[in-house]
Amino acid sequence: MGSSVKVGMVGAGFAASFHLRSYQQVKGIPVEVVAIASKTRIRAEQLAGRFGIAKVYDDYRVLLDDPSIAIVDLCVPNALHLPLVLETIKAGKHVICEKPLTGYFGQGEPDGEVGATSKRKMLDKVRADLAEVTRVMADRPVKFCYAENWIYAPSVRKTLEILDRCVVTGSVLEIRGEESHSGSHSEYSKWWRHTGGGALARLAAHPIGLGLFLKHREGRQKAGRPILPVEVSADGVDLTKTLAFQGVKSSPLVTGWGDVETWSQVTVTFSDGTRGVFYGADNLLGGMESTVDIRLSNARLKIEMLPVRVCQFYTVDPAPVQDVYFNEKQETKAGYSFPNPDEEWMLGYPHEIQDFMEAVALDRAPLSGLELAKQVVEVVYAGYVSMEERRKVVLSLTS
Ligand SMILES: NC(=O)c1ccc[n+]([C@@H]2O[C@H](COP(=O)([O-])OP(=O)(O)OC[C@H]3O[C@@H](n4cnc5c(N)ncnc54)[C@H](OP(=O)(O)O)[C@@H]3O)[C@@H](O)[C@H]2O)c1
Repeated sequence: MGSSVKVGMVGAGFAASFHLRSYQQVKGIPVEVVAIASKTRIRAEQLAGRFGIAKVYDDYRVLLDDPSIAIVDLCVPNALHLPLVLETIKAGKHVICEKPLTGYFGQGEPDGEVGATSKRKMLDKVRADLAEVTRVMADRPVKFCYAENWIYAPSVRKTLEILDRCVVTGSVLEIRGEESHSGSHSEYSKWWRHTGGGALARLAAHPIGLGLFLKHREGRQKAGRPILPVEVSADGVDLTKTLAFQGVKSSPLVTGWGDVETWSQVTVTFSDGTRGVFYGADNLLGGMESTVDIRLSNARLKIEMLPVRVCQFYTVDPAPVQDVYFNEKQETKAGYSFPNPDEEWMLGYPHEIQDFMEAVALDRAPLSGLELAKQVVEVVYAGYVSMEERRKVVLSLTS
């Protein structure tokens, strides 16, 4: 076994925590998170203390200057993904980027008005940004790891094993995928300036990513080249804005959204004429819903990453279990609920980090890489154009 893969972590929030727990589970590859940098030093120090990370900084650029660090893991807000990806690659280091790779975050518009910008202008800007990533990557021997955990979820891995057999004689006709919950924990997510969009960019990006991955894989298996998305039509709205109109005074849903949509649906037409219908919403009570339904000409596969129903619990009085973790975004433990024994495992977080570490150590491509990350952004922003212009939007992707 060679020397360890040395990781630099940027960010000290929610995603950084589950990534760090995942590094602790990597098997067969020696891995060391040697440094963490975040905006607020004290938060980075707290996380460093919990995970035994030796060096703490409040400036990520120190990580880029550290020759011992092979890969930089970006767990920072969406608007920072693109600039930090570019800097990391230019520093000659491999990079892990959380979803989405990039978006439109404003070019001088006043706060709260970024979401009103022409979506065609947004699409043009993100396309130029994506081309820049490709250009910067082109002559550098670094790996881009796109942290789309859905591709790595154990339920998806099992599905792939079955699907690979089914597409020999059949075809995936429709993929329906959904990521929904009762609203983000982050105030930033309410504003386009910080997130680059609403439920479509933040939530539907997961099923879109998996849907594109599945059709790529089917195409490669059948004809040696990916089946690509060619057309997008979408709808979106902030459904919580209808509450006041309907006279509803309070709701356990997150409310007070700014200039982003909280409900979105996108239909993707693939180059073989088949369809993907992807849905992301912040208006669902009862815990997270992360599901995919794959309808083939000769079979059907359903994936439930969340909720997981391997454990069932009923109570009238949830007081005794108040401090027991059940599920993300579960509003109440009264009545029936389904405590998840290992949410992060079900969601594929340790598996994605395992793949990224192997990609670096064994010098191979990660399963989830740059092309997928770019195509998800294209589909999302073509979706925004479709919402605004109320028509289908044609893509011209090649890869
Ligand atoms: N794959 C998934 O299922 C999943 C789930 C959740 C999030 N994510 C993605 O993960 C990313 C981070 O989300 P999160 O929920 O972890 O957000 P978060 O909890 O707000 O954490 C973001 C972290 O980035 C730090 N930061 C902000 N600006 C920085 C800068 N200039 N330099 C260094 N650090 C900076 C913040 O510092 P402070 O502590 O000072 O604020 C904070 O520690 C997002 O892109 C999100 O889409 C993915």
